[in-house]
Amino acid sequence: MSDLPQPEFLVLHSPACTAIWEVSQTEAPLWRYWGPRLPERAVPGEALRSTRPEPSFALHFDQPLSLFPGIGMGWFGSPALEAHRAGQDWTLQITQCRVVRPDAETVQFHLRDDVALIAATVTARLDPDSDVLTMSTALRNEGDAVLDVQWLASGGVPLPADSASVRSYGGRHNNEFVPIDDALTRSTWRRENRRGLTSHECFPGAVVTCHNGKAYGAQLGWSGNHVSQIEWADDDRWHWQMGEWLAPGELRLAPGATIETPEMLATCSEEGANGVAWNFHRAIRQRIDWPGGTMSPRKVHLNTWEGFYFDHDEAALKELATSAAEIGIERFVLDDGWFAGRDDDTSSLGDWWPDPAKYPQGLGPLADHVTALGMEFGLWVEPEMINRDSELFRAHPDWVLATPGRPLLEARHQLVLDLTRPEVSDYLYGKIAALLDSLPISYLKWDHNRVLTHAGATPLYRQQILAAYALMARLRAGYPQVEIEACAGGGGRIDAGIVRHSHRFWASDCIDAVSRAPVQRAFLQFMPPEVMGCHVGTSPAHSTGRSQSMHFRAGVALPGHFGVEFDLRKVTGEEREELRRSISTYKTHRDQLHGTRVWTGEAVGGLLWQAHGEAAELLLFLIRTLPSDGRYPPQVALPMVDPNKRYRLSRDGAEDMVLDGGWLRQVGFAAPPMKGEDVMLYRVTAL
Ligand code: DGJ
Repeated sequence: MSDLPQPEFLVLHSPACTAIWEVSQTEAPLWRYWGPRLPERAVPGEALRSTRPEPSFALHFDQPLSLFPGIGMGWFGSPALEAHRAGQDWTLQITQCRVVRPDAETVQFHLRDDVALIAATVTARLDPDSDVLTMSTALRNEGDAVLDVQWLASGGVPLPADSASVRSYGGRHNNEFVPIDDALTRSTWRRENRRGLTSHECFPGAVVTCHNGKAYGAQLGWSGNHVSQIEWADDDRWHWQMGEWLAPGELRLAPGATIETPEMLATCSEEGANGVAWNFHRAIRQRIDWPGGTMSPRKVHLNTWEGFYFDHDEAALKELATSAAEIGIERFVLDDGWFAGRDDDTSSLGDWWPDPAKYPQGLGPLADHVTALGMEFGLWVEPEMINRDSELFRAHPDWVLATPGRPLLEARHQLVLDLTRPEVSDYLYGKIAALLDSLPISYLKWDHNRVLTHAGATPLYRQQILAAYALMARLRAGYPQVEIEACAGGGGRIDAGIVRHSHRFWASDCIDAVSRAPVQRAFLQFMPPEVMGCHVGTSPAHSTGRSQSMHFRAGVALPGHFGVEFDLRKVTGEEREELRRSISTYKTHRDQLHGTRVWTGEAVGGLLWQAHGEAAELLLFLIRTLPSDGRYPPQVALPMVDPNKRYRLSRDGAEDMVLDGGWLRQVGFAAPPMKGEDVMLYRVTAL
């Protein structure tokens, strides 16, 4: 072997995952393993370099993949940091490493480059309750001049040589979470978002599938610009990095200053994408700050948007509330259109007080009517935005995000407020607090209906996100009983960063159940069902023009945080009864739908299935969006059931089936005949 010093290995285990680094005091820790759980004593026996003979035409110094890869000194892949001081100090090679263990699950690598004069602390925590490795980096400029940072990874993990493909998600408003499947090749795979918010177009997370069926997932806990990159390395591993995308000049670290990245959440599972989803769900659940400390049953919503849009009539809305309470709705959310002069989307953002024409006595009478019916009252706001046609803009035109010399680009007729100015955040806090103080509001739907452009003379993208988080945190601290729904024209701000400040996501403005089914399944890859806002919409759907039955619309919405979004007063007879039954079914099952494990799958012929609960007691949805092209209904195999048990499958209106678990797992049960646009619900119980 070699005369290298005996290596030290730093090992983190969770029940299902293991991370191993090879550590020395004079360089960044080398990545030795990230993957499914290894036995306690299964550490690499020897130093990595001793296993790598020098290739031809190579440096005599061997630089393998590390936790903080450098640049210009023998690592030719993507570094953890790209920075310079006026063109100097750009090479990076960690020269010191000190390991601190705050607890058994966490390791902090305190790294320093004595030449570049930077210090970086990479924190990695492998959570025993979720099998998610959370990584983040704090960078300190230890030089005496400004450090211009172009790129700073939150973290990076190695992927095994048999990594085959990556599924990420693209889309647009009304069509979020469109899967993009790419083969992993020696070309770098990279997704970048520069829209200033999480975006509909590029969800900050992906899942890598290996040839042997195991899967790796990662997502960035950040609501702004982001990068996700997978690069092949010379030793046949792959390097998956995530971090913020930084605009030129955005991150200029003063001497002595420190910057902290958002967190990268990484996980892996031998159970494929379903295992990755389970791990993410558990990690996301830990990040949610529920009023009172624990999740209460997710209340059935009535949202006014598609039923009323801007056309608020107090008497009609009171009738709507009465009608909603009658069928079991529990929270009434007054959407856009309630504030001063807001008759369409051209005006009034910023003027956060009730419209005196629509609500002559303010919102009190409506809110009191709602709460007297036993429902909670929720209110829509879009704090980060401003219309030119608003009192706020007329008073403070300088409060908008702008770049000197550049025109103000509008989207949905609106501009973005510069939340990094304390007076702007204070104004918004004051206005929202006044509403919360004077009305029985227990819920805010927090919208964000445009992308960010001309974001300051020096780019303020990241500062704007941090200021939005701070405003939310301040409101949550002042009003801890108030829940927040994160929305950005539907699913434009769904991520593991804002989840620390919110309790529900509006997954899409498209409420057509055929379109919505795949959006929800992709959402569930990263986020748990209890935060997935799912509404029964109008038929025909406003976004697509397609008409669907109440049974189908409600069935597709049932697994998430259920709600209704149309003018209920117009729905009568059997349709209304069907909706009432669905609400009752939701209430019966919500404890099993939420906070538990979810599996999704697809049987032959496009039959989707989705199971919630524990393997011994499942709620199983069969969802058919399109008619089958098969001759017979397909078999639905359930991979989670115990092969040593027998199971009863029951469905309302059908005879129970009892099947052997081994059979159910490998072969499945015969699905009943289903036409297109149908949902069936089974209870699957171990006997
Ligand atoms: C976009 C949201 O996604 C909708 O649900 C609705 O709140 C509108 N904004 C209101 O302007």
